[in-house]
Amino acid sequence: MIVIGGPTSEPLAVKVANELGLVAGKLEVRRFPDGEKYLRVLMDVQGQDIAVIQSIHHTPDELLFEYLLLADTLKDLGARRVITFIPYFAYARQDERFKPGEALSFKTVSKLIESVGTDEVYTIDMHQHRVVKSSEVFRIPSHNLSAMPLLADHIKKLGKLQNPLIVGPDAESEQWAKLAAERLRTDYDVFLKTRLGDANVEVRPRKANASGRDVLIVDDIISTGGTIVEAVKVLQGQGAKRIQVACTHPILAPGALEKIRDTGVEDVIGTDTVPSPISVVTVAPVIADQVRKASE
Ligand code: R5P
Repeated sequence: MIVIGGPTSEPLAVKVANELGLVAGKLEVRRFPDGEKYLRVLMDVQGQDIAVIQSIHHTPDELLFEYLLLADTLKDLGARRVITFIPYFAYARQDERFKPGEALSFKTVSKLIESVGTDEVYTIDMHQHRVVKSSEVFRIPSHNLSAMPLLADHIKKLGKLQNPLIVGPDAESEQWAKLAAERLRTDYDVFLKTRLGDANVEVRPRKANASGRDVLIVDDIISTGGTIVEAVKVLQGQGAKRIQVACTHPILAPGALEKIRDTGVEDVIGTDTVPSPISVVTVAPVIADQVRKASE
């Protein structure tokens, strides 16, 4: 098995390779003077199984195209299997035609990924709301892994929260709240969220009361930070004590982190699916585990 990081995930690929006692494969990627992308695989991949890691965030169109070039080239050079890890999978949120005529981006992106010969695809805490399983969209084997247990372990290591209530800010976050609660052996609840615009949400409590409790808020993505800020306000209104925040994908639009920190929360942490100032947990062990299984 060879582990190769696409241009956006090279450091993560090196960590995964280290976990497995391997050396990560190398690429040359640059632009031609006219802006086109150049990619060259710098190793012999003939007959090999390849684990490709390429997170698709922030400049998703470019990063997706890099992945397509890479996977297609690997197959063309004779790689036996291309097993792809897309830690952050952009475009998963456009999984439905909300207004007539909209592009179903999730479907289009998955078709492109399949079209270059990808044999299997893994995502991490993918945004699955209307589509609840990636197999509803992909025709190749697809699996969604979770970083929540690792985030919960990190929160435990920080040791600031006593018997915390785990809170997911919306109904869809129940899957992550449940995982974190199981890991920390505590209870959880989810709030109800109404999206009022790209950066505005309204969050209402459901049944649990955070009065006098430490709280850990968990979510898949922090983008504008609006969801977390509104959840914090509700919790503070209920009389919560210490509040920490954990997300898998710290997309962090400009000002998001400051906005959340201004509420007075203790810590905001995320993973390296999207490199950021709060990416203190690596998902390398989650990926390495699957690469190990795939090589057996
Ligand atoms: C949406 O349903 C997701 O799970 C996140 O709650 C959302 O993407 C966070 O976005 P923002 O930080 O912009 O509120």
